[in-house]
Amino acid sequence: MNKLPLFVIGVLCTFAFSWLGLVVYPFVKLGHLEPVPDEETGGYFPPTLSGAAVAGQQVYAANGCIYCHSQQVRPASLSTDIAKEVGPRRTVARDYLRERTVFLGTMRTGPDLANVGLRKTDPNWLHRHLYEPRSVTPWSIMPSYRYLYKMQKIQGQPSANALRELSGRHAPEPGYEVVPTDDANALVAYLLSLKRNYPLPEAPLPAAK
Ligand code: HEC
Repeated sequence: MNKLPLFVIGVLCTFAFSWLGLVVYPFVKLGHLEPVPDEETGGYFPPTLSGAAVAGQQVYAANGCIYCHSQQVRPASLSTDIAKEVGPRRTVARDYLRERTVFLGTMRTGPDLANVGLRKTDPNWLHRHLYEPRSVTPWSIMPSYRYLYKMQKIQGQPSANALRELSGRHAPEPGYEVVPTDDANALVAYLLSLKRNYPLPEAPLPAAK
């Protein structure tokens, strides 16, 4: 008996069901999500990203930060993320509406960055850490992103945007300074914008203790 037609129908059904499950169903369930208005300020949640933060997403993607960092807070019923203060509440699909590429990630070789903007508020700390992670965390295994910075001779006064507090073997030679490139500034603007601390209807903030 010729089983070829049955085989072809089987293959087509397999693809059709995965397309329905992985493309159509999520689109119907999540495709209509919109930012929610914030009555107090007239703004929206999630808030719009600054131009620099949008540019920073490209730098984040290009440098493979996602290989070691996730950006998702799992619900308290499934994980200890909330207890470990990865974020004040779980993250949901609406949190990622402003992102053109969503960096959910699966690896946590480094800490989750969904709320890094709440933990690290000092741009100089973030720059120092990107320039040389071991200058702030001596045991760090994070690669250094020195190529996002320029070492230059100090002309007269040091530049206002030069990295501060680089000490020991990470410090530039006397008479030189380390300044961020546009890419480094964009990346830091993006990291500072990562704050999922606004309430959403499907993910309210926990009541204040
Ligand atoms: C090889 C894995 C790896 C890669 C790739 C990586 N990181 Fe990390 N990252 C780590 C580890 C491990 C830590 C924790 C130790 C430390 O603070 O350096 C960390 C810490 C951090 C922190 C501090 C977070 C906190 O809450 O203390 C930030 C911010 C950060 N990384 C940003 C980045 C960015 C941005 C990129 C891409 C340019 C990147 N990382 C790429 C491994 C990595």
